[in-house]
Amino acid sequence: MNGIILCQSKYGASRRYAEWIAEETGFRITETKKADIKEVAKYDVIILGGGVYASSITGIAFLKKNIGALAGKKIYVFCCGAAPYDEELVEGIRKRNLSGALSDIPLFYYQGMWDLNGMKFADRTMCKMYVKMLSKKDPSEIKAWERPFFEARDKKCDWTDKKFIAPLIEMIKGKGEEKC
Ligand SMILES: Cc1cc2nc3c(=O)[nH]c(=O)nc-3n(C[C@H](O)[C@H](O)[C@H](O)COP(=O)(O)O)c2cc1C
Repeated sequence: MNGIILCQSKYGASRRYAEWIAEETGFRITETKKADIKEVAKYDVIILGGGVYASSITGIAFLKKNIGALAGKKIYVFCCGAAPYDEELVEGIRKRNLSGALSDIPLFYYQGMWDLNGMKFADRTMCKMYVKMLSKKDPSEIKAWERPFFEARDKKCDWTDKKFIAPLIEMIKGKGEEKC
């Protein structure tokens, strides 16, 4: 079985997961924005991963654009956000990113990192506004998956863990069920 991992990571979290997946599968990693569809289409298994930014998965446009050229391939998507796993949250990400021709692709969600002070200026400004908006909410209205943003604020957090990739690896190796 041959495969390729396409990854677009801004602060390194998705890249770390891509490297762990590469360790377990032997697949090579290519940056999604540098990927050539003719090259990607040579592989049987295609894994695309990226960070979650305002509920959008970085690099998903590559699959949307090229899905027609990937008929018959085993395709998997993983995404990496700061929020902890939550079924409702992941369903929202799925609806936003994997609709239409992408709707049968299995989606895996992994918790990544959060470092307000290490972010680029525009990102930091946006995230500060988000945290401020959360802090104005009645605590009972803050959803479980929003709480870590609010609690972390300007603390550096790293929730990455190799154990999260196990269901994807099992599915690739034909032992797992089709779920996140
Ligand atoms: C502008 C901005 C928007 C973000 N939006 C979300 C979001 O909607 N949901 C989430 O869980 N995390 C969100 N995050 C956190 C990132 O997804 C998280 O830091 C992730 O680890 C980034 O992965 P990467 O380093 O591979 O790009 C956001 C971060 C920034 C800077």
